[in-house]
Amino acid sequence: MHRRIIAPGALAAASLLLAIPASAASYSPGAPGIGDPYYPNYGNGGYDVSHYDLRLQYQPKTDELQGTATILARTTRDLSSFDLDFLLDVSEVRVDGAKASFTASGEHELVVTPKTPLAKGTTVTVVVRYSGVPSTKSAYGFSTWHRTPDGAVAADEPEAAWWWFPSNDHPGDKATYDVSVAVPDGTQAISNGTLQSTTSKLGWTRYNWRQNKPQATYLATLALGRFDITTGTSDGGVPVINAYSKDLGDNDGAARASVERTGELVDWLSGYFGPYPFSSAGGYVPNTTTGYALETQTRVYYSPKQFANGSNTSVVVHELAHQWYGDDVSLKHWKDIWINEGFARYAQWLWSEHEGEGTAQELADYVYASHPADDAFWTVAPGDPGADHQFDAAVYDRGALAIQALRNTIGDDAFFRILKGWPRTHAYGNASVADFQRYAEQVSGKPLSALFDTWLFQPSKPAAPSARALAGAGTGTEATRPKSWKRIEATNDVHGH
Ligand code: ARG
Ligand code: ZN
Repeated sequence: MHRRIIAPGALAAASLLLAIPASAASYSPGAPGIGDPYYPNYGNGGYDVSHYDLRLQYQPKTDELQGTATILARTTRDLSSFDLDFLLDVSEVRVDGAKASFTASGEHELVVTPKTPLAKGTTVTVVVRYSGVPSTKSAYGFSTWHRTPDGAVAADEPEAAWWWFPSNDHPGDKATYDVSVAVPDGTQAISNGTLQSTTSKLGWTRYNWRQNKPQATYLATLALGRFDITTGTSDGGVPVINAYSKDLGDNDGAARASVERTGELVDWLSGYFGPYPFSSAGGYVPNTTTGYALETQTRVYYSPKQFANGSNTSVVVHELAHQWYGDDVSLKHWKDIWINEGFARYAQWLWSEHEGEGTAQELADYVYASHPADDAFWTVAPGDPGADHQFDAAVYDRGALAIQALRNTIGDDAFFRILKGWPRTHAYGNASVADFQRYAEQVSGKPLSALFDTWLFQPSKPAAPSARALAGAGTGTEATRPKSWKRIEATNDVHGH
């Protein structure tokens, strides 16, 4: 983009003069990590991205991906160089139009040194040209690029972006996206948001997807393969786009019988969480072999295994609940994962109650009763579980139990005001467990630090059954297993990597 009519040399000289007056010493390399205690090298320091424009081309036969990423960012300090998180082969990097030098470093760092250092508080445009075969790349010994018989899928947590676009890979830096992908005619490309247009030329079809609301990097998804795409609108007016791999085999019917209910379930969840925050909703079911589902923003990723026992609205409720708890309001650091998983699990409990398969209280009683005090389950603190236990069952089940304990302590009126008020209060932003506690105290007018400490942070089974309803709902008898239990547990039973 040519902004001014100045000879390139003069421009460089002028910006050098403007950029390095008082202390050139303040220009130093940006950190290789954003400062997350669980994942020190995830994300990067020194800048904040506002928009990713990804123009890609993919060949399913060979798994070759090539593209140009144009990244709009603003510096947050004086930078002599900065990092992007990325694994594919880079051929050129430009910063504000000028060729920059670059080098790969560590497990997934691309270090970019611009021709002229970047002053704090300025906007920068970074262009990265790249290509590669993502399935041949790994970091820390693993890959989250999933090859399928007809293509590939990028969907994983906490990392998936490294295999398909250079980024500041941490939920702390959300941005909008345009993802444009050319695939051979007959293959479809699925991503987040709305499909703006498709064009066809010389045997290639280009899909232009737009996510117009801030999105964390791990919530950006890409699926390439042969899909059947369905569209509709919910009763409440939310546009829905779903996609099903054409080779789901016996899982095809159950997958559709579940995911086609997205509009209905989005509207149902809106009753608890407030208006749906995005311009579209939906999900896709590729022919992957993994077991988990993931709340990729507006376009949920579902493993076909989630539908192996018939329709599964519970997993759809879980992933759609994340659209408010996780996607709209994203966590500040990965240790805040309870805000995502505790509430998405609790939404499944509410759905179970709605379906007459066990009330939230019965499910809470069952979790409490089925883990004896010496069960390792209680050693995992959902409020700060550690990187190795980030997706432990305790984060989900003890996490939802903590939410029932909160409900029983503050009463339904304050509880449901909090459920709905939280996404509005932090819309399109980031928040921590401490922020949630403060908000719950503010809405309920009750001090809650002892409650939060007991249920979320102590590495032991809480003694008092404050998870039991204050007035009458708990029976005090042996907890029986609610009908919905097995299905709910299967939402997160297969772990990645
Ligand atoms: N957030 C996802 C869910 O609960 C969990 C993803 C777990 N990641 C994995 N690789 N297994 O819906
Ligand atoms: Zn989840």
